[in-house]
Amino acid sequence: MDLFEYQARDVFEKHGVPVLDGAVAETVEDAKAAAETIGAKSGGVVVVKAQVKTGGRGKAGGVKVAKSPEEVEAAAQAILGMDIKGHTVHRVMIAQGAQIAEEYYFSVLLDRANRSYLAMASKEGGMEIEQLAVERPEALAKVAVDPIVGIDAAKAKEIVDAAGFEEDVKGKIADVIQQLWTVYRDEDATLVEVNPLIKTQDGDIVALDAKVTLDDNAAFRHPDHATLEDKASADPLEAEAKAKGLNYVKLDGSVGIIGNGAGLVMSTLDVVAYAGESVEGHPKPANFLDIGGGASAEVMANGLHVILGDEQVKSVFVNVFGGITACDAVANGIVGALGALGDQATKPLVVRLDGNNVEEGRRILAEAAHPLVSIEETMDGAARKAAELAASK
Ligand SMILES: Nc1ncnc2c1ncn2[C@@H]1O[C@H](COP(=O)(O)OP(=O)(O)OP(=O)(O)O)[C@@H](O)[C@H]1O
Ligand SMILES: [Mg+2]
Repeated sequence: MDLFEYQARDVFEKHGVPVLDGAVAETVEDAKAAAETIGAKSGGVVVVKAQVKTGGRGKAGGVKVAKSPEEVEAAAQAILGMDIKGHTVHRVMIAQGAQIAEEYYFSVLLDRANRSYLAMASKEGGMEIEQLAVERPEALAKVAVDPIVGIDAAKAKEIVDAAGFEEDVKGKIADVIQQLWTVYRDEDATLVEVNPLIKTQDGDIVALDAKVTLDDNAAFRHPDHATLEDKASADPLEAEAKAKGLNYVKLDGSVGIIGNGAGLVMSTLDVVAYAGESVEGHPKPANFLDIGGGASAEVMANGLHVILGDEQVKSVFVNVFGGITACDAVANGIVGALGALGDQATKPLVVRLDGNNVEEGRRILAEAAHPLVSIEETMDGAARKAAELAASK
């Protein structure tokens, strides 16, 4: 789960990371009221910042300095409702205005390829960090972090040395980096990124931006994280699937996919994408949905209900390998699910079964002869058929 900046700021504060005052507002009036309190500590200067879970807010016009109540009003009016890379701005954060002397960069993240953590730091932070990483990678120090040891004083020193920070700030940055590490470790994060981490004109080090991703697999250890969830903007189908215990990810295409087992579902996505390339309009997978081992009628009905609820879906490919739950049980599940869904089932289904009791499974489907269902024997054939059906709609 990604946090909004204002939530990440609060988490930073809880762990002693130096941050500036900030408050979140959903209306222009609230923004003005918040700016009055917060601006009092910074000579009336505040920054109005779009709260969306995507980068590049500054470049999109979503970060504006305001020096008077009129400017706060104008900035909040302009930013609230703005679209930044497909994310609508529903909230702004009013942040205390900082006197920036230098902008640095720091992050720590999960490094899957190396089965480790990775810290990155640069004395050239700010809005162009992605460009810096591509054009002058040597200006971005990368230091591996042992998950068992973490970022202790020695590791923090190694990081600030590698990044080449000036001597007068090295000590302070090393302290902040260790506090950011406690955020990463104690909150079970997979990403903590600060861009910019600044040196103020008074020489203090402050986190001016905050990006945190929490590890959902560790949610059971953090009951307090539930309150950070952004229920309002969660995809309603993903929410329904989650409530029913299904492993579902919505994608952008038109061929709905149901399979059992993550590996099978992933290869089904590939096969459908490939088949779609030679079909008009190049239909692509609409989702990832793994119904797991026990493909009972109820689980199948839940899965179909979620997928058929996606308006982009034009056809559905059910790809099941019968193992412990044999193909006849799966076939009965499909027939039962279609019966339960009744009129709600409106899109063609291509079913490919293989594995345990496959003959009996296919016989059950053939006998039911549901008008929306076609049976295919191979995965490639079924993918082609599903892509063609999606294209013809
Ligand atoms: N509180 C503040 N006071 C003064 N300047 C600020 C403040 N917050 C942000 N800025 C300035 O605005 C720039 C962009 O802000 P920020 O890093 O929060 O957004 P962003 O980098 O565009 O967004 P993202 O990190 O999502 O890509 C900063 O680099 C900094 O120069
Ligand atoms: Mg930033």
